[in-house]
Amino acid sequence: MEKIRIAVIGMGYVGLASGMAFAKHGFKTICTTTTPSKAENLNKGIPPFFEPELEGLVKEMVEKGMLSGSINNTEAIKKSDVTFICVGTPSLPDGSADLSAVESSAKDVGTILKDKNDYHVVVTKSTIVPGTTENLVLPIVEKYSGKRVGKDFGLCMNPEFLRQGQAVHDSLNPDRIVIGQFDKRSGDVLQHIYGSYDCQKMRCEIKAAELIKYAANSLLAIKISFANEFSRISEKFNIDVYEVMKGVGLDFRINPMFLNAGCGFGGSCFPKDVKAIVALSKKIGVETPLLDAVLYTNELQPMHLVDLIKHTVGNLKGKTVAFLGLSFKPDTDDTRETRALPIIKKLYQEGAHVKAYDPKAYNKFKLSTDLPIEYMDTWEDALKNADFSVIQSDWQEIRDIKPQDFKRLLRTPVVIDGRRSYDPEYLIKNGVTYRAIGWKNLDD
Ligand code: UGA
Repeated sequence: MEKIRIAVIGMGYVGLASGMAFAKHGFKTICTTTTPSKAENLNKGIPPFFEPELEGLVKEMVEKGMLSGSINNTEAIKKSDVTFICVGTPSLPDGSADLSAVESSAKDVGTILKDKNDYHVVVTKSTIVPGTTENLVLPIVEKYSGKRVGKDFGLCMNPEFLRQGQAVHDSLNPDRIVIGQFDKRSGDVLQHIYGSYDCQKMRCEIKAAELIKYAANSLLAIKISFANEFSRISEKFNIDVYEVMKGVGLDFRINPMFLNAGCGFGGSCFPKDVKAIVALSKKIGVETPLLDAVLYTNELQPMHLVDLIKHTVGNLKGKTVAFLGLSFKPDTDDTRETRALPIIKKLYQEGAHVKAYDPKAYNKFKLSTDLPIEYMDTWEDALKNADFSVIQSDWQEIRDIKPQDFKRLLRTPVVIDGRRSYDPEYLIKNGVTYRAIGWKNLDD
C-alpha cells in the first residue's frame, strides 16, 4: 500500500488526538473544523483545548509538516485516501444523539468523492448508535458521490476509547482497536494504518463496532454507579467504601478500575452515551432497568454530597464555601455534565455563597451559570476566610493541599470530599474535620 494520507473531520478531543497520533505514526494528516481560528491556531501548533502533553506533540507534528488544520473539507478529503468522521454527537432533549454534524460530514465526503477517482475509505469514529454508519452515512455518501460502497469506496466504523486528561497517552497507546468493516478491503486499509500500534486489534461488522462503544462506556458507568450505591450503604455501617471496593477489585474477573466512589460521573461521554442507548432502546421496545438505575444513581450522588455537607456543618444560610474543582475531572478544562453545577446550584438554594477555584475550567464553567460565584486565582484565595471546603475534582495541586493549609486559611478546618482526594486518617490526625462520600461519616 502507498503511504496513506488521512483527513480527519472534527477537531475535538477525538479528532485532534487521533489526528496527532496518525501523524506521529507517520501518516500525513489534515484535521478540519468549521471554526477558522481553531484551524489557524492549529497551524501555529496551538490546540483548541487544554489536554496534558498535547500542545508539545501537536507543535512537533505541525513543524514536521505531518499535521495541519483546515476549514476546507473539500481540500482535505481531496488530498487524502481515508477520511475519519470525528464530529460531535451531542444529546437532544429526549436523550438521543444529534446526528446533524455526522450527516453534513457525510454529504461533504460524498460531494468530493464524486470527482475523485481513487479508492477512498470513509470511517466513522464519532459515537453513533448501531445502524448509523450503514443506514445514514452510507446512503448519503452514495447519493452525493454517485458511487458504490464496496466497489468505488470503502466503509468502516472505528470507535474511540480515549479518556480526556489522558488523550495523548490513550491515542498513542490504545489497549485495543476495534475495526468495524463493510468488507475485507475496507478493513485492510485500517489494519494497515494501525499496523504499528502495539495493541490487540479486533475486526467485526460495522453495527457491532458501533454497539461496542456504547456497551464499553455503559459498563464503566455501571461500575461507578455500583461503587456509588455501595458508598451510601457503607456509610450507614461506618465502613470505608474504598476498602470494600479494593477487596472487590482484587478479583481478576472484576479489576479495581472505575470503582472509585464519589459525587458521580460527568463529562461528555458517560452521561450522553448511557442516555442515548437508553433512548434508542425505548424506541425499539427494549427495557433498560439497569442503565436507568445507573443514571438515577448518578443524579443521587451530587445531592448526597450536599446532604453530607449539611450533616457536617448544619444550616448553610450565610456560609461561605471554598469549592475546589469545577471541571468534570482533573487535567481537563471540560465542564460538560460536571457534578460541580448541580452541587453549587443546591448550595445557593440553601443560602450559601461559593468561592471557587479551578486551575483551567473557568471560561467553560462560566458559560453554564450566572450564579454570583467568586472565581479565585488560587486555592489559597478560595480557602481564605471560607467557612469550610468542598472538593469536586481532584486536580493534583488540590490533592497536594496540606492539613496545615486548611487549618491556616479556613475559618473552621472542615473538608467535605466528593472525590476521596486525601488520606482521611492523615487529615483527621492533623486536626481537620474530614467527611467524604463512602467514608466513616457517623459521628463518634
Ligand atoms: C470516558 C471513557 O473512560 C473512555 O474510555 C471513552 O473513550 C470516553 O469516555 C468517551 O466516550 O469519549 P472520559 O469521559 O474522558 O472517558 O473520563 P473518565 O476518566 O472515564 O471519567 C468520567 C467520569 O467518571 C469523571 O467525572 C470521573 O470523575 C468519573 N469517575 C471515573 C468516577 O466517579 N469514578 C471512577 O472510578 C472513575
